[in-house]
Amino acid sequence: MSAPNKSYDPVEVEALKPEVIDRAKDEALAAVAAAGDLEALREVKAAHAGDRSPLALANREIGALPPHAKADAGKRVGQARGAVSQALKQRQEELERERDERVLVEEAVDVTLPYDRLPAGARHPLTTFSERVEDVFVAMGYAVAEGPETEAEWFNFDALNIGPDHPARTMQDTFFVRGPGEPGDGDAPGSAEDSGVVLRTHTSPVQIRTLLDREPPVYVICPGRVFRTDELDATHTPVFTQVELLAVDEGLTMADLKGTLDHMVRELFGEGVHTRLRPNYFPFTEPSAEMDMVCYRCHGASVGDPDNPCRTCSSEGWIELGGCGMVNPRVLTACGVDPERYSGFAFGFGIERMMMFRHNVEDMRDMVEGDVRFTRPFGMEI
Ligand code: DAH
Repeated sequence: MSAPNKSYDPVEVEALKPEVIDRAKDEALAAVAAAGDLEALREVKAAHAGDRSPLALANREIGALPPHAKADAGKRVGQARGAVSQALKQRQEELERERDERVLVEEAVDVTLPYDRLPAGARHPLTTFSERVEDVFVAMGYAVAEGPETEAEWFNFDALNIGPDHPARTMQDTFFVRGPGEPGDGDAPGSAEDSGVVLRTHTSPVQIRTLLDREPPVYVICPGRVFRTDELDATHTPVFTQVELLAVDEGLTMADLKGTLDHMVRELFGEGVHTRLRPNYFPFTEPSAEMDMVCYRCHGASVGDPDNPCRTCSSEGWIELGGCGMVNPRVLTACGVDPERYSGFAFGFGIERMMMFRHNVEDMRDMVEGDVRFTRPFGMEI
């Protein structure tokens, strides 16, 4: 800004010369008219009406004029700035109108077009139910463990105390897997049963993998698919889902197993539901038991009451859940865990069976065929 001008001569204040002001105004108006879109107009505005624009700088010079000259210069600059800001406003409105019209055409949506005919998928109820079981245990500090579906025979049987001649091997109808050129493949001698590789028949081999992998204390929950050579019918499927639990620590007893089972069924089926254990045999647990839970619908009230039959438990009062027991010391030894110091409990059950009685699913095939008309009523948990 120029210093106070005592001997006034407006010609000396270059920025305030009428022709300079006019030129600045004309340039500004031309630039406004030439701005082709809102972005360009924003730049024009900064250059010709912003704080550093020629007219704004001229305006500041007015302060340096003596009082009697201020009015004249002020009027000239004010009119020029007014004209520019008026032009900017008009062009802004024009360009906005143009943009709105263009957007209406470009982004038009034809609401009469057919909608997306492929509905978003839903997670399968088997998955969501397995996860609900996992959540119960994760909340207690258990870790989720997984193992391969194609498994070495040793993990699936031997390490679980199911020796080569053990009858349990034939009780679990096993798919044997062989690779190209391996026994059982074409002319190669031997049968696939010599390959040493199976599709796991249960999730119990994950117990072995876990114990070989981690130092006790071990608390894991292992959901997964298992395979048996069953035909698909209303009550069987060759591929099904199990959840396995393994806890190995110092001082674990059957009471811990029972408390854990009771907690699980209460969380999954509601207050008042508890379990009972019936003696059974599994090679990998000793002692072993079959676990039942009180029918969560009739709570046993239907037993001996022919007037109030219960479809869920067939009026038996109890529902069979799966197998369980204290980990056989031979299993601990096979995994390098000292059975003198550690004990453990385990259980395993089938998710499909649990779903069948929990949701009155009558045909196993509904659960494996992937028809969304079956899946949808379970909710669209994505
Ligand atoms: N693996 C057994 C089966 O598929 C089920 C089972 C029984 C699992 C007892 C266990 C257990 O962990 O302790 O038939």
